[in-house]
Formats: sequence, structure tokens, C-alpha cells
Amino acid sequence: MAEPAAKIVVDGVTKIYRTRKRRDSFLGRFLPDLRPKIMELKAVDNVSLEIASGDFVAIIGPSRCGKTTVLRMMDGLIFPDSGQVLVNGTPVTGPRAECGFIFQDFGLYPWRTVIDNVAFGPELHGVPKNVRYELARKHINLVGLKGFESAFPHQLSGGMQQRVGIARMLASEPEIMLMDEPFGALDALTRRTMQFELIRILAAEGSATSVFVTHDLDEAILLGDKVVIMSAWPGRVKEIVPVPFPRAERGEALLESKLFAELRHHLWVGVHEEQLASEA
Ligand SMILES: Nc1ncnc2c1ncn2[C@@H]1O[C@H](COP(=O)(O)OP(=O)(O)O)[C@@H](O)[C@H]1O
Ligand SMILES: [Mg+2]
Repeated sequence: MAEPAAKIVVDGVTKIYRTRKRRDSFLGRFLPDLRPKIMELKAVDNVSLEIASGDFVAIIGPSRCGKTTVLRMMDGLIFPDSGQVLVNGTPVTGPRAECGFIFQDFGLYPWRTVIDNVAFGPELHGVPKNVRYELARKHINLVGLKGFESAFPHQLSGGMQQRVGIARMLASEPEIMLMDEPFGALDALTRRTMQFELIRILAAEGSATSVFVTHDLDEAILLGDKVVIMSAWPGRVKEIVPVPFPRAERGEALLESKLFAELRHHLWVGVHEEQLASEA
């Protein structure tokens, strides 16, 4: 079968959240105009994106512009009101085994050890016990946590907990990795270390397609092949900026280069405008 043109296609997607505004008065039960009102919030508006197989796409934009919403529609956790999301050429109709997710708050089970947390990914997909523990060990080694298999999350630093999060995602051997501000809870030094670690890990792991939401412009450039700038709420695609650096050059020295600084400035101007618009 021919490979579809793009791994992920977001095609003119609009998402509206509907929430009930409660009116708790006794009279509200009887008088229609006092009944709970449905509030509509357009979170993203006509977003289109094509992500090629093996691409690493970073998404930046002001808070609440709909970045998480876009990611969750790719995972099939929520659905658009109009437009569609296609993965491998097929419309997304629910959560799918080929997608792995990493969350900002790590999302580890506190009652499970490191190895049991990592094995949980493949366990969800019905992988037999011996195979999933083999996969878990392999990925624990890859993220640099050998020797911590029996530790519980609370015994680990933030950076180590997110290494567990990365290992758990990788152990499911996903075709698509969706990462929502995975380093957002880390201090600046640990964050920088984890950025370089993720570059190393992905280089070792092969060619999954990655979508990575961040507020950190350096992080977007260091990791991304392309950076998508989203507009202020409701989120739209403002600009897609290609990152010209080969993966092998994504290191400490790159951060000091003139071209990196120029690219960072370009992103800063683009996002800052949107930040001001969202505050207005
Ligand atoms: N489950 C939900 N119900 C209602 N509103 C939501 C829900 N999730 C997000 N929103 C709203 O949609 C907008 C976009 O949210 P989100 O996608 O989380 O933005 P971002 O990740 O860019 O900060 C925000 O205004 C947010 O309050
Ligand atoms: Mg978010």
C-alpha cells in the first residue's frame, strides 16, 4: 500500500467547548431564563497542519490559544466541531495505539515502581508480560535510569520522573509522540539537560513523528524541524517556520550561533504580538 502523503493531517479544524454556567437558585428550576446557560468557547478556529512522517513539529503560542486542544484532537481524546484530523490517512475516531503522550505533570502512577510505570504503556496495548518488561528495561536504560527500576516516583527528582514519562511513552513503540509541555515543570538547568537528552534519545530511537507543545523558544528551535506559531485565542496557525539545522548539530554550540539568535528573535516577535493581543 502506498504511504499516505502526510502522517498527520489537521484539516480546517474548529473546536468549540460548551460548558454549563450554573444558576443555582430555586426559581431557576421553573423560570426558563434562569436555567443553566450553555457557554460556548471557540478554542481553535480553522486550524490546518500537515505533518510528514518522521517530522518533529514544535507548537508555540500564548497561553490558552488552543495548543493542548490541537494535541488532544490528534490523540482522539476530543473531537473537532468541524474539519477533521487524519492519521495515516484515516480520520481519528478515538484514542489510538500508535500515539504516545507525555504530560507536563509527568502523569506517573505514584503506587507503581519505575519499571511498572514504564511497562504500563505496553500493558495497555495487551503486550505479554515478559515482552513488556523487556521493553521497559530497554527504555529505562535508554533514558539513563538503569538502577532505579524499583524506585517509586516520589523518590525521584523532577527530571528523573520525566525520564520515566519518556521511557513509558517509548516503551509502547508509538509511531506518533505527542508531548504537551513535558519540561514545563522543571527548573531551567534540568530543562536544558532534558532537551539535550530528548535529542539524544530520539536519535537513538529512530523515526517516530513528534508533536511538541512548548512556551520555550530555544526548546522549540533545538527540537523542532518546524515551529508552528499559533495566534492568540481562538487559536489559528499564524506561521510555520522551518528550522534549518540538521539534527546532528542540535547541541550547546548551536545555542550560541547567530542564525539561532535570529530565529529565536523571529519567533519571539511572532509570539509576543499574539501574547499582547491575548492580553488586550
Ligand atoms: N474541557 C474544556 N472545557 C471548556 N473549556 C476548555 C476546556 N479545555 C480547554 N478549554 C478552553 O479552551 C481554550 C484553549 O485551551 P487549551 O487548548 O488548553 O490552550 P493552551 O494549551 O494553548 O493553553 C482556553 O480558553 C481554555 O480555557
Ligand atoms: Mg496547554
